[in-house]
Amino acid sequence: MIKTIRGTRDILPPESGLFAYVESVAREVFRRFNFDEIRTPVFEKAELFARSVGEETDIVSKEMYTFTDRDGTALALRPEATASVVRAFLEHQMGNEPGLKRFYYLGPMFRRERPQKGRYRQFFQIGAEVLGGDHPALDAEVIEMVTEYLRCLGIQEFSLLLNSIGDRQCRPAFLQALRVAAEPVKEKLCENCRRRLVTNPLRILDCKEESCQPYIDQFPSILDFLCAACGAHFEKLRALLDERGLRYQLTPRMVRGLDYYTRTTFEITSDLLGAQNSLLGGGRYDGLSEMLGGPPVKGIGFAIGLDRFVLVLSQIRPALGEDPVQLFVAWLGPKAFSKAYELTQKCRQTGVRCVIEFEELKLKKALSNADRMKAGHVLIVGEDEIARNSFQLKDMKAGSQESLSESELLARLSSLPGRL
Ligand code: HAM
Repeated sequence: MIKTIRGTRDILPPESGLFAYVESVAREVFRRFNFDEIRTPVFEKAELFARSVGEETDIVSKEMYTFTDRDGTALALRPEATASVVRAFLEHQMGNEPGLKRFYYLGPMFRRERPQKGRYRQFFQIGAEVLGGDHPALDAEVIEMVTEYLRCLGIQEFSLLLNSIGDRQCRPAFLQALRVAAEPVKEKLCENCRRRLVTNPLRILDCKEESCQPYIDQFPSILDFLCAACGAHFEKLRALLDERGLRYQLTPRMVRGLDYYTRTTFEITSDLLGAQNSLLGGGRYDGLSEMLGGPPVKGIGFAIGLDRFVLVLSQIRPALGEDPVQLFVAWLGPKAFSKAYELTQKCRQTGVRCVIEFEELKLKKALSNADRMKAGHVLIVGEDEIARNSFQLKDMKAGSQESLSESELLARLSSLPGRL
């Protein structure tokens, strides 16, 4: 038997219903904030991610699925989509149009991580990016949008972690201070940290190795090194979040696992997730366009790990993904099928989720099939009922039954509970 590749999975009902629900709420909430969908390719030139996410990051150095195309081009399955959105912005010269560009996207991303609960090699993200502005109110609005999304899904228990990691002006002094602080304890740090001390010291703060933590905790805080402009930006953002009642934890060690960030970074975590507790992450990336060879374009965004959202929702609202049959149409007598089918069509047109079976069944068997499908109602269409234009509608939960004409039936069904 051929099976799925390690770290990938089939998403089956009812979980697939939960994915669809989470996606539809995202589309609706993001629309209210004036975001439009963008769809970029699942594979891109590998260089796009090397230049943006960063050669030294785990994502690019260890986890990216790269392959050589037949013409020799190095390609990669996208590990994230921010770089692709900025590439698209530049490629289509959207910077020439006035105003901000607000995009959202959803789809699979690929990282060759060690699979565990909430961590896959193909996983799904919903992300949003705003290009063309760096007002702190934009950062606040993006954070507000994501918390509004959580509210709409009914996720109340979460922590918002916030940091600023400065910019090209102020970060070099911080990196230098980090190097100085790390030098005397260098031998105590893990091999990765020792390497990063030379190649990309900021990444040390991101280290998950238990034995490194006591040392890293003693290292200087980026917040003490912010230049006046970055400091003012961060202060304003914090004031706006306070004003809107959006509570956050200052987390100076949170530098995020991607190199393109400047200034604001944030994550939302949930205790319901276990080790992989990050529900979503994002931040500002004012230098990313230039890393890709474009003109200066300011940007901020985030990406939500859909698989993790679904995991949390399945714990707090288990019935959410279910969308059972609303109407099971049972027909009795060989002449009843055509009319029963016609009624089924009409019910479907009113938005009701219907099932009709193609073999004639005894009523008892039909009812037991309807029960197995957890159908809300059963419509009984016999030859007599057709002659009298009076059909039996059985409420499977209440056990009650009523006689309805065709028009009464259709009116009644339009108010059935369940999704339309
Ligand atoms: P990221 O933190 O790498 O950021 O990923 C965002 C979210 O994707 C994580 O918080 C997590 O929920 C989910 N995620 C990441 N890896 C996996 C995995 N292997 N399995 C399941 N879920 C996963 C980014 O990707 C940035 N592009 C976010 C961003 C957008 N920053 C600015 N704009």
